[in-house]
Amino acid sequence: MCGIFGYLGPRQATSILLDGLRRLEYRGYDSTGIVIKNGSFEIHKKVGKVGELESVLPNRIEGTAGIAHTRWATHGVVSDENAHPHPSAKGKVVIVHNGIIENSRQLRTSLTVQGVDLQSDTDSEALAHIIERELSVDNDPEQAVRRTLRLARGTWGLCAMFLEHDVIVCARNGSPLIIGKGEGEMFVSSDPHALTPYTQRVVFLEDGEIATLTNDKMSLSTLKGKNFNPDITVLEENWGDSDLGEFPHFMLKEIYEQPDALRHCISGRLDRVRGNGRLGGLKLEPRDLAKVPHVRLLGCGTAYNAAEIGQLMIEKLARIPAVAHISSEFRHNDPVINPNALHFAVTQSGETADTLSAVKEIHLKGGSVYGVVNVVGSSIARECGKGVYIHSGPEQAVASTKAFSNMVAALSMFALQVGRSRATSKEQGREIINGLQEIPHLIEEYLEQQGPIHEAVDMVKNAKSVLFLGRGISAPVAKEGALKLMEIAYIPCLAYPAGEMKHGPIALLEEGSPVIFIAPNDHVKVKTISAMHECKARGAKIILIHEEGDDIASEADISISIPRVHPLLSPLLTVIPTQLIAYHTALALGCDVDRPRNLAKSVTVE
Ligand code: F6R
Repeated sequence: MCGIFGYLGPRQATSILLDGLRRLEYRGYDSTGIVIKNGSFEIHKKVGKVGELESVLPNRIEGTAGIAHTRWATHGVVSDENAHPHPSAKGKVVIVHNGIIENSRQLRTSLTVQGVDLQSDTDSEALAHIIERELSVDNDPEQAVRRTLRLARGTWGLCAMFLEHDVIVCARNGSPLIIGKGEGEMFVSSDPHALTPYTQRVVFLEDGEIATLTNDKMSLSTLKGKNFNPDITVLEENWGDSDLGEFPHFMLKEIYEQPDALRHCISGRLDRVRGNGRLGGLKLEPRDLAKVPHVRLLGCGTAYNAAEIGQLMIEKLARIPAVAHISSEFRHNDPVINPNALHFAVTQSGETADTLSAVKEIHLKGGSVYGVVNVVGSSIARECGKGVYIHSGPEQAVASTKAFSNMVAALSMFALQVGRSRATSKEQGREIINGLQEIPHLIEEYLEQQGPIHEAVDMVKNAKSVLFLGRGISAPVAKEGALKLMEIAYIPCLAYPAGEMKHGPIALLEEGSPVIFIAPNDHVKVKTISAMHECKARGAKIILIHEEGDDIASEADISISIPRVHPLLSPLLTVIPTQLIAYHTALALGCDVDRPRNLAKSVTVE
């Protein structure tokens, strides 16, 4: 989604800003822009990729201060005019903004009444004009931003530059902004990992905070005007390999990284002797876990699918109620929060606005939330203050793969931990631990022998729609497979628990309709196979993902076998063929696999 990268220092800014923009690209965007200050503001904006912006830039732009932006349209179509940065009417202020200004209609109307000629359809532009108006009051950039934001309602990660002042003023409310402190230079970014090539010393702005940056100083204050000292965090340099290496796409690279990512996730977190999980970051003792009345898990998209698997694992091992919620619905349904219950916020980016709002809602109502998060130091990780990092390393493809696996693995370790405090025996615990430790190797084995993925691709690539069915713990895997194929190959996909198929989706089946079944060797396999027969009887073509050596392979049109796996951990294997089918189908259809249209990696608006 929208990204910000800013620089203020002794070096020429343009190449630093373009490099910063490239590091933000993976988040998904539709247009870009840059402003460099060199006596005046030199602004360039372009619909399309960073490369397209570069192609319209003059050979050399002098200037040692600037801000760059990637836009993901919310208000106003995708156009050069609507791209950021936005200058103010008299050209004294220029801003970039992430988030949504909810009262922008009123602000724009009052500006128009005051005679301001708005140049874009965005909610953001109004801020530039109001800051300029407020600057005329006392010529104080920070106060001008403060007074402007007091008039605004909504969310912002905002950076403003001033023609007559050598500062960048930054403000955060609900949209991340991180200040990077170099030697005699300052950086600002909406993504901490875009900063690490330049500095590891960062300050995460919190909601309601303002930072005024000069080359060598940052002054921090609240929106109300209270000053405070910076709390510098030192980022890990080694967040992981973020280059493509020999892979053609990040998605394929990340599919192949799953075994190692899983090893990182489980390493040091399994207690073989006690048959227990050891998630230290939860700071929960067995006696606390034994009293938990229920567990609620929150997430969006892929993270929600992982949360549904977590729900089933927790109920199975701990025999306490667990339920997964879609974060974007949660807060608006005025949920009842039990302060003794455990809540988990499951998220790769740690910046998903819907999940962050759900976390805040729980906090507001006296509950506590544990993060199951990939990005260290992200907003949700910090808002929760405790939880589990899933250690997937950087996930750059918009379609989430290795983060899904590690979310499931992290939740399985929690399920084991809470299970051992209640209903799960040491022996059962050890079985799960053995199962988990084998998974990375089993995935490697499967990736060596993937089965007829390309036949499956031929079957789905021109289909009107594809139905994914699974039962029990495979029902969320079906959802995840459908989400992946839909988001990167743009094929309408439907996922249902297999038993529900006959209550509606069966009406869609025609001669040749492709149906993908997920049917590992668990207690519901027989029932899933009945659903498969019902589909076949109506002319559907079956792609079956099943465990090797079972007796059902011959019943499908295409059967893809995975190695034998512990029934509770089967999602970690069955999901892999669905990821490969999505990847190769998108490729066959000429789609942009890593950056599917309209989607963003980090969805920072509600
Ligand atoms: C799907 C996908 C999205 C995300 C969702 C939540 O491949 O990537 O559905 O899973 O936007 O994102 P996070 O996990 O960052 O909260």
